[in-house]
Amino acid sequence: MCGIVAYIGPREAYPIILKGLKRLEYRGYDSSGVALLNHTGLNVYKKKGKVAELEESLVGKNLHANAGIGHTRWATHGEPSDRNAHPHQSANGKLAMIHNGIIENYAQLKTELQKKGYVFKSDTDTEVLLNFIEDIQKNNHCGLEEAVRIALKRVVGAYVIVLLDQDNPDTLIAARKGSPLVIGVGKGEHFLASDASPIIEYTKEVVYVNDYELAILKPDELILKNLGNEKITPFIQKLDLELAAIEKGGYDHFMLKEIFEQPDTIFDCLRGRLDINNASITMAGVQNNIEQMMHAKRIIMVACGTSWHAGLIAEYVFEELCRIPVEVEYASEFRYRNPVIHQGDVIIAISQSGETADTMVAIERAKEQGAFIFGVVNVVGSSIARISNAGAYTHAGPEIGVASTKAFTAQLAVLTMIALKIAKEKKTISEERYVHLLNELNNIPEKVREVLLLNEQIKKLAIKYKDSKDALYLGRGYNFPVALEGALKLKEISYIHAEGYPAAEMKHGPIALVDDQLPVVFVATKDSYHEKIISNIQEIKARKGKVIAVISQGDDAIPKMADDSMAVPEADELVAPLLSVIPLQLLAYHIGVAKGCDVDKPRNLAKSVTVE
Ligand code: M6R
Repeated sequence: MCGIVAYIGPREAYPIILKGLKRLEYRGYDSSGVALLNHTGLNVYKKKGKVAELEESLVGKNLHANAGIGHTRWATHGEPSDRNAHPHQSANGKLAMIHNGIIENYAQLKTELQKKGYVFKSDTDTEVLLNFIEDIQKNNHCGLEEAVRIALKRVVGAYVIVLLDQDNPDTLIAARKGSPLVIGVGKGEHFLASDASPIIEYTKEVVYVNDYELAILKPDELILKNLGNEKITPFIQKLDLELAAIEKGGYDHFMLKEIFEQPDTIFDCLRGRLDINNASITMAGVQNNIEQMMHAKRIIMVACGTSWHAGLIAEYVFEELCRIPVEVEYASEFRYRNPVIHQGDVIIAISQSGETADTMVAIERAKEQGAFIFGVVNVVGSSIARISNAGAYTHAGPEIGVASTKAFTAQLAVLTMIALKIAKEKKTISEERYVHLLNELNNIPEKVREVLLLNEQIKKLAIKYKDSKDALYLGRGYNFPVALEGALKLKEISYIHAEGYPAAEMKHGPIALVDDQLPVVFVATKDSYHEKIISNIQEIKARKGKVIAVISQGDDAIPKMADDSMAVPEADELVAPLLSVIPLQLLAYHIGVAKGCDVDKPRNLAKSVTVE
């Protein structure tokens, strides 16, 4: 939530910050702003709407500066507006600050400051923290660094903050707790951002700032300290990321590009792990902790949104292959529920961004209670990856579209490999089935390529169904969570109300919704439930519902009943979700585009939910 960028060095700061904000817009896009520091002083420009609107409003302005900070916002405190946009300026006008996160005790701090005569121009918690810092500077007669340190000791909540000080134009001060912050180390210059995408064009040397750390940046100096004012040696890492990976590469939208990348991302995820010739899986994170994992009394999948759907599919896979009981928890519920956690429990935290606040806190709590945390994460070096005891990256590459697509299939591939590896060690799978499933998984990238050939057909379907007000998605077994995921994709991208249900559960309520206007999407590939789901399709047809079905190639029964069918290659039911989800991603995408929605940046959403 919220993207931050900052620069200090010999170059013009504004173009670097503007480009960075565009790259980070997936994190929030209701307003944006920049603060630039030059010999005339501190200039702050803010605008409601997308970064392009800010850019347009700044045409013709003198934007020369060698130090600056920029922000793209996802509103928490205060509606999206020019005045609530960041950067905020302190009461004396000397400090400017950007913030990603939530200051939970802002109301108390605000009251204290109001009593001292502070007047606030915005409704944000950010302006409160900034004036709190200014007030400490004034009362304690100290420098900004000291004031920030004192202030942060009183702050409850999550933050990344970056400050610019008119009186110290060669210094940027930043701090982090619970939200991501990356420093780019250049030659005589430094960059700061919420993720590496605004930085890679200029340098591949980065430092990931940890919680409770303060960074003091000058063009040619980087000092890291903890809140106790002790210096910490920065750990400089080399980024393994190419610029092309974060650009659209000829596609109209990142979402479409990412859907089409899936044959390669799944392949990348399997590469170096699944060895078909030796019938083996190499995953150091699992191998090094195999005793812990195979003897787990219980596995708890903890995640949010699409990642939670991946966890639901993994529940079926792990229980079938490993014979270990699995629970799948919404991180936001799990963290507050005082759950019963035993020493032998293994928590699998699933997250694309690795920064989702609810997932992060949930695993912190579980870790404190003795659980072993295994992270299945996409973003290398992210907070969840770092806090986990062990893990496996999904290697899907940067996912920019707010709707998760390629990260989901990569999560499924990784989770399936983990289950297969444990099952093999535990001997809960026969050699024949193990080899068969390795082959099935290995064949997935090519089969996904084939599914993508449905694109033009699905584009036409999208035109047919784009004006629907509601939709029902139904599936059974491994395909039930796929139905949930299909419904989530449609909701996010096209704003059509959609619900996912287990197909058999439909009779217990949702069937009341069915009429001749309601599209019902069945995920009905050939599996052990096939006959049952055919009956469910008939139940819908008997009530004149419109049936759109994802089926297996060669199925000639369902097309006779369904209004429209999308056929994917046959696969073992355990890996079938990797194929059956793709037509649903494409359907949501094309309906969103046909309705004129901003599919890469759906309203109210943000890619990385770093607030609870
Ligand atoms: O980064 P994470 O995987 O932890 O994110 C979890 C959810 O916020 C995310 O999957 C969200 O539901 C997506 N917008 C779904 O497309």
